[in-house]
Amino acid sequence: MKEKNSAYLLLASVVAALGGLLFGFDTAVISGTTPFIQPYFGLNDVGLGWTVSSLLIGCIVGVTLSGKPGDLFGRRNTLRWAALTFLLSAIGSALAAKLWVFVLFRFFGGIAVGTASMLSPMYISEIAPGARRGALVSLNQLAIVIGILVAFFSNYLLAGTGVDNWRWMLSVMGLPALLFFGSLLFVPESPRWLVQKGKVDEAFDILRRINGADRASSELNDIKQSVANEEVGTYREVFSKELRPLLSIGVLLAVFSQFSGINSIMYYAPIIFQKMGNQTNAALMQTIAVGAVNLTFTIVSLKLIDRWGRRPLLIVGAVGMAVSLSVMAGAFFLRYFEGYLILVFILLFIASFAVSIGPVSWVVIAEIFPNRLRSKAMSVAIVSLWTSTFLVSLTFPVILDRLGGGAAFSIFAVMCVLLLVYVIFRLPETKGKSLEELERILLKRS
Ligand code: BGC
Repeated sequence: MKEKNSAYLLLASVVAALGGLLFGFDTAVISGTTPFIQPYFGLNDVGLGWTVSSLLIGCIVGVTLSGKPGDLFGRRNTLRWAALTFLLSAIGSALAAKLWVFVLFRFFGGIAVGTASMLSPMYISEIAPGARRGALVSLNQLAIVIGILVAFFSNYLLAGTGVDNWRWMLSVMGLPALLFFGSLLFVPESPRWLVQKGKVDEAFDILRRINGADRASSELNDIKQSVANEEVGTYREVFSKELRPLLSIGVLLAVFSQFSGINSIMYYAPIIFQKMGNQTNAALMQTIAVGAVNLTFTIVSLKLIDRWGRRPLLIVGAVGMAVSLSVMAGAFFLRYFEGYLILVFILLFIASFAVSIGPVSWVVIAEIFPNRLRSKAMSVAIVSLWTSTFLVSLTFPVILDRLGGGAAFSIFAVMCVLLLVYVIFRLPETKGKSLEELERILLKRS
């Protein structure tokens, strides 16, 4: 009998995290294509804003749609469909000759991103033992960040390939999409989903390979109890008084992660650097520095999340974000852009996000909800996340243009102070416990 196998668990988590890589790539790739698609499709600024946002609308739809197949056909099987949808979107948007075709295939890409943003962390949290869940779910965030960086680089390398350069930039995604599909053939289904479907032996076998035989029996009993002949829950229960405290944790962390302003920097970094008077080339180098710091501090977070816990990381991160955003706002108000001051504080902001709410938002959303309500409750939290992303990315350029960077960064700074207060006074610690232990503790508390 094969006992406890860490490599097996890591492999399954890495494969699921490829969904995060595609998520990061697909959301960031558009930034390099905009200078070329704008003239090609004859778009004004508003038209461009909507064309770019078509993906985010797809994400909202994808999250809403993926809960049901995730419950019916399994997390892994639904992720396979998402992988194929990524492929379809890459090919379709790269070949588009008309705007509506382009928008339609980007929208499909959004459906895949939305699905992956929900089912990849869900799958990992359901397969991971409590003591390592934080780090393993954070692999998904690590993959998102790598996907963003790969998109920045690949856009940069492909920019000089002629009039079809934007088509090449978009088609690159086909490769990781194929890899994602292929590798999903080799990973097991989520044991918690299998128990829900009555496939207890199969679930036990997977738990045994992950945890060893002793631990597997007790985990299986816990899962069986939590699922205990009950039907998968309804949305009415998700919004019930009993679940409300947990739902508000998920929704608030999702919304705070976006209203920290992270994507105003991720998607618009070159524009911000140019507004500060930099040349395009320097702006590009600085954008790559943003990606590299993001990656480095996500790795730091991964090391700390199961040791320090979620709360300390969030507290350190919220303080760092509030301070750096306030300095940035001040510099914009005073028009003081000398030397590397702003760059240093932008990087401090990114580091603070990457070490805290970046990964922690996804980890907590994937672990706080009871087994039978998880997919529905997660979808509510993640729809809030994508709606916030959509609102911030649509309004940021307008706020920057009409009210200036000072106002924009002040709003984000206030949000980070609110996050800090919320974490200190309301957020429970969730590190180290099995999902079933959390279910007992959190539901009793709420
Ligand atoms: C957020 C994304 C963001 C990324 C940046 C993720 O946690 O959900 O919106 O672009 O972090 O690293």
